[in-house]
Amino acid sequence: MFDLNKIIRSNIKVLTPYSSARDEFSGQASIYLDANENPFNTGFNRYPDPMQWALKEKIAALKKVVRKENILLGNGSDEVIDLLLRAFCEPKEDNILTFPPTYGMYEVYGNINNIAIQKIALNSDFQIDVPVALKAINANTKLIFVCSPNNPSGGAIDPDAIKSLLKNFEGIVVIDEAYADFSAQESWINYLDLYPNLFVMQTFSKAWGLAALRLGVGYASENIIKVLNKIKPPYNINELTQQSVIKKLENATDVQEQINAINQQRDLLAEALSALPIVKKVYPSDANFLLVQVIDANKTYQYLVEKGIIVRNRTTVVLCEGCIRITIGTAQENTEVINALKEMKI
Ligand SMILES: Cc1ncc(COP(=O)(O)O)c(C=O)c1O
Repeated sequence: MFDLNKIIRSNIKVLTPYSSARDEFSGQASIYLDANENPFNTGFNRYPDPMQWALKEKIAALKKVVRKENILLGNGSDEVIDLLLRAFCEPKEDNILTFPPTYGMYEVYGNINNIAIQKIALNSDFQIDVPVALKAINANTKLIFVCSPNNPSGGAIDPDAIKSLLKNFEGIVVIDEAYADFSAQESWINYLDLYPNLFVMQTFSKAWGLAALRLGVGYASENIIKVLNKIKPPYNINELTQQSVIKKLENATDVQEQINAINQQRDLLAEALSALPIVKKVYPSDANFLLVQVIDANKTYQYLVEKGIIVRNRTTVVLCEGCIRITIGTAQENTEVINALKEMKI
């Protein structure tokens, strides 16, 4: 049985969080002399809402299956990863499970926080070997990070494997859905009520086209969110980001159009790449990128750099030998990549 109290670090359990001026008074007033701000209006002289309620309300309305209390906002999902580790993993004692090849920041933040990382490699279909994963869990395993669709392989993780982890693990299963908007699979946020140990991460950096604003979203039970709110920096989402994303959410008609265009380009690019003699394999993708195995990844990467085209060389990553990762660009950009690769001498 999942018991949140059992997995919170003891120092966090007793922590008295910082109480900001905006936490202590959050109503409407005519004169604000409580936060040592500059009284002259620059548009940004006031601190932003530390709980970001207006933005969370908009996100909850968009998602429909969550309330604003089920939402944590981070300075990118990277901050959310770090907050999860700091809330639940005791340095030098606890461990997390990751499934390489996967997003590198779970490991980096694990290392920064001095948390042991148990790496259970995905199988050759880039799926989780559930029995091996369950066997690796011990009393100090606090978090399991599942990236679905997975970066860099691109495919979604089998929902039955994820269900099995959720049912058999007494810590938190974090599902990173950074690329879910490009996938036909339903989001795990629909299952938050069913699994108290489920934490879903999404981001405005990919399908929403707002990477520079830095807005990551965590969805979980109100109790899990409360723990993370206790330790987050008071003003972690700046005013420009809050206002810009609210505006985008009020007029988001182009987002689905762009997702459709990117997905269509993904299929075209996959087909064109598959026909090239230098390409050995194009992996199926539910994301806005393709993992492509070529005859010589280093040579292909260097060749493209010389043409002014930058892709990601993944050849040194486990299970990705000979692979490059290509983000789906505009139709014009993708055509240029194909034309360049057509001209490449093997
Ligand atoms: C799987 C995955 N999660 C999270 C992120 C980071 O997202 P953010 O920009 O919200 O920090 C990335 C970025 O590439 C990613 O690939």
